[in-house]
Amino acid sequence: MHVTGLEGRPGSAGASPSAGGFGGPSEAPHGLEIRDLEVAYGGLTALAGVTLRVEPGEFVALVGANGAGKSTLLRSITGLVRPRAGLVRWRDEDLGALSADRVVERGIAMVPEGRKLFPQMTVEENLELGAYGDRARVDRRARLEGMYAIFPRLAERRGQLAGWLSGGEQQMVASARAMMTRPSLLMLDEPSLGLAPQMMTLIFGLLGQIHRAGTTLLLVEQNVHAALAMASRAYILESGWVVGAGPAEALLHDPSVRRAYLGPLAGLP
Ligand SMILES: Nc1ncnc2c1ncn2[C@@H]1O[C@H](COP(=O)(O)OP(=O)(O)O)[C@@H](O)[C@H]1O
Ligand SMILES: [Mg+2]
Repeated sequence: MHVTGLEGRPGSAGASPSAGGFGGPSEAPHGLEIRDLEVAYGGLTALAGVTLRVEPGEFVALVGANGAGKSTLLRSITGLVRPRAGLVRWRDEDLGALSADRVVERGIAMVPEGRKLFPQMTVEENLELGAYGDRARVDRRARLEGMYAIFPRLAERRGQLAGWLSGGEQQMVASARAMMTRPSLLMLDEPSLGLAPQMMTLIFGLLGQIHRAGTTLLLVEQNVHAALAMASRAYILESGWVVGAGPAEALLHDPSVRRAYLGPLAGLP
C-alpha cells in the first residue's frame, strides 16, 4: 500500500516545525530522529530502512499489521535491539551505543507489548520498580502519589498482586511504572491489545491526559482507527517500510488507508 500526497511525509518540506536537518547549536534540541534504520534477525529483515521523527510535545502514532516491525522499532530505540544500519538520535545525541538503562536515564520510557509485570508482586511494588534509576529516585514518593492521582484505580489496588488485576488495570500499572521514570518521551507498544472497547477508551483517555500534561508520546498500535483518532501525526509501517505518513486526521480519511486497515465497513456512516 502506498499513500501519496500527504503532508508531513518524512523528508518533505514542512514535515515538522524544525524540518531541515539535525539543527545547529542555536536551535532548540530536536526530539527523536530515526534515519534509514535497518534491523535484521539472522537472515530476516525486520526493518528495511525506516525514517521518522517525533518532535517534543507531539503525540505520534506508529501503526501497522502484525509483523510489520513496530515492536522492533521501539526495541531499537530503547537499546534492546542493535540495528544493522541507520541512526537513532534523541535530543541531538546518538543513542546507538547506549545501554537500555542509559536510554531510560536520558528520558525515554517504554511500556512493552504484553505489559511484562511481575504478577507475584503488588501494584505498588511494580510501580517502585519503575523508580530504581537515578532519574526516578528524585521525589519518588510524590511521584507515586502523582501516579495514583492519574490512575485512581491503582490507588485502590495498591496492595493487590498485579497478576490478579484485569488486563486494563495491568495496562495501567505498566503505564504508571514507565511514568515513574519521569520520561520526556513515553512509548507504548500495543496498549489496547486484548482489552474490551470500554477499557480501551478509558486507557486512551488517560494517555491523552498524560500527553496534555507535557509528555511526548509515541503510540504503537494494530488498532489503526483508535490510534489515528488519538494522535496528531502518524506513520504506517508495512513489512519494515514506512508506506505512509502524515497528519493522523488525513490518514484516517485516506481511501487507501481505509481499504487496507480500517475494514470493509469503515467507509459507512
Ligand atoms: N526475536 C526475534 N527473532 C526473530 N525474528 C523476530 C524476532 N522478533 C521479531 N521477529 C520478526 O521480525 C518481524 C517484525 O516483528 P515485530 O517487530 O514484532 O512486528 P510487530 O510488532 O509490528 O508485530 C516479524 O517478521 C517477526 O516475526
Ligand atoms: Mg509488536
